[in-house]
Amino acid sequence: MVDSLPRHVGIIMDGNGRWATARNLPRTSGHRAGVTAAERVVLEAIQLGVEALSLYAFSTENWRRAKQEVSFLMKLVARNLRDQYDFYRKNRVKVLHSGDLEHLPTEVQKEIATVTRETSENDAITVNLAINYGGRDEIVRATRHLVAEGIEPGAVDESAIARRLDLPQLPGLDLIIRTGGERRLSNFMLWDSAYAELYFSDVPWPDWNGEHFRNAVGDFTARKRNFGGTS
Ligand code: FPP
Repeated sequence: MVDSLPRHVGIIMDGNGRWATARNLPRTSGHRAGVTAAERVVLEAIQLGVEALSLYAFSTENWRRAKQEVSFLMKLVARNLRDQYDFYRKNRVKVLHSGDLEHLPTEVQKEIATVTRETSENDAITVNLAINYGGRDEIVRATRHLVAEGIEPGAVDESAIARRLDLPQLPGLDLIIRTGGERRLSNFMLWDSAYAELYFSDVPWPDWNGEHFRNAVGDFTARKRNFGGTS
């Protein structure tokens, strides 16, 4: 399996709300359970030897949710970054952030700065937390950088844009998993998804465990990729 392992896997962690509602629990319980699922999957990804995992934790569109849910999610993310510090250290997880940092609450910005700094030397896996992230927004911000640098139109090519995206140091996205039954990208890593394989699962995110992740990776390894060429 190792030969064709995906180097970088993105996950759209969907179905938290429905998971909770089906159990007569508040939607927020689903998000809490989602954090534990993320830990299980990170551990499995390390076991398998995946280099990078991008987790879609809060999209630029999620601000449209009820005020209480948004504020819960922000607090959960901030607390999660703080509380999971031991988990990151023990498992040598390097944490990175992608998304619009500037418009996040100060507390979340602070936690992101701390965790990314404190885990920067870890080398078992890189976990990119996409928080206040939108694929279109990322491309808009990269374009603003190019314009601000006064780049000549003829010098704008794919690599000029790619280098100004949030995390140009990550390998290209090989596999995108969406849990919870929906089959769409929802503005997740639009630039990087160009040649990613897609894997959809009906299992809601809070129920995900290592085996689900292993199966998704197994499915990926059986696929033939030719990146627009011929096989
Ligand atoms: C989608 O489920 C999930 C989210 C918008 C939030 C995901 C956040 C977490 C799992 C917690 C943060 C985790 C980390 C690792 C920082 P939904 O609410 O849209 O579910 P629904 O479609 O069933 O309503």
